[in-house]
Amino acid sequence: MKIGVLKESIKSEKRVCLNPTIAKLLINKGFECLIEQDAGEASNFKNSDYTDAGASVVDRSELFKNADVIIKINPFEKEEISLFKKDQVVISQLFHKSNPELIAEIASKGVSAFSMDAIPRISRAQDMDVLSSQSNLAGYKAVIVGANEMTKIFPLMMTAAGTVTPSRVLIYGVGVAGLQAIATAKRLGAIVEATDIRMETKEQVESLGAKFINVDNAGEESEGGYAKEASEDYAKRQKEAVNTSLFKADLVITTALIPGRKSPVLITEDQVNHMKNGAIIIDLAASHGGNCELSDITKTVIHNGVKIIGTTMAPESVSTNASDLYAKNMFNFLNLLTEDNKFKWDLEDQITEETLIVKSGEIRKS
Ligand code: NAI
Repeated sequence: MKIGVLKESIKSEKRVCLNPTIAKLLINKGFECLIEQDAGEASNFKNSDYTDAGASVVDRSELFKNADVIIKINPFEKEEISLFKKDQVVISQLFHKSNPELIAEIASKGVSAFSMDAIPRISRAQDMDVLSSQSNLAGYKAVIVGANEMTKIFPLMMTAAGTVTPSRVLIYGVGVAGLQAIATAKRLGAIVEATDIRMETKEQVESLGAKFINVDNAGEESEGGYAKEASEDYAKRQKEAVNTSLFKADLVITTALIPGRKSPVLITEDQVNHMKNGAIIIDLAASHGGNCELSDITKTVIHNGVKIIGTTMAPESVSTNASDLYAKNMFNFLNLLTEDNKFKWDLEDQITEETLIVKSGEIRKS
């Protein structure tokens, strides 16, 4: 089976879905790897690294013509879909629920499509979970970017010239990104506080040495380990519980998402008006609507002395690590889907069932 690795087409995207190490592992398992020319360049993987691993570096048209499986990170572009051939298998993040037109277009080519972002959040799927592997890096990078934007340092520093007090960091949402942000900010010496609608995160926050901000009756607002849309009453209680910390914070990182929905607004303009001059908000949920009312996905906003950064960053900005992890997720996913160099199409398997969005031109999930 020939696996074709496309170069990402979005200009700002530096990641690649397969690194040379994983290409070699796939080749050892009997696959052939066709890598589009310069696909790994922006992640510092040279064409020669892939050929040394046993892969072939090819041009785009050759890849579309010869690959049995075409893999990528971002959703396929119109131009790419037009080059699909019947019976090819295509794999990327498709975000099918919010992209029905894209799915219809893919289906019209008679291919089968798997979506990496639809991998269920179950233990067995953890090593294939691209949302987690990339969110983890985003949580780390948000703290680094925040630290760089701040005009203060994170740790307590006692010097001959006087004592520098530690910065205060507040994290909204303690999922994969939030936990990594807490850990990173703690390592840098900040005083860290965090809040989440899921009460079970209290213990996780405390185990990292941070303070959990409790909102009364928060447990009612989650279901099966995932957040539900918060009631107005909860949102009001959350503001009351968090405002004291918000108004003292030097850096605020928001990561709150609700599966399949627009992200909740947790910081309003009025709240920003009460924040410290020079404070930074990094809104990792901006591409899902934003946790701060003032976030803009296209630019940094400065409001009343507070800088609000909603532009996407990481995992693209740490593309070598992000590509390594995405590639390992992809390898584990392909291992699940195939046997003896053939797709198993095992729809009894929950991971296959939930990720197979189009089967031979027929839309299965919308
Ligand atoms: P996410 O990215 O969907 O959301 C981030 C966080 O925001 C969540 O913790 C959520 O509870 C919180 N949130 C939502 N609305 C909020 C509000 N109004 N106020 C405050 N916080 C709010 O979360 P992620 O990273 O996907 O993790 C969700 C759960 O899934 C966690 O329990 C995580 O451990 C689990 N998980 C399981 C995996 C597996 O078993 N394969 C893989 C990844 C995550």
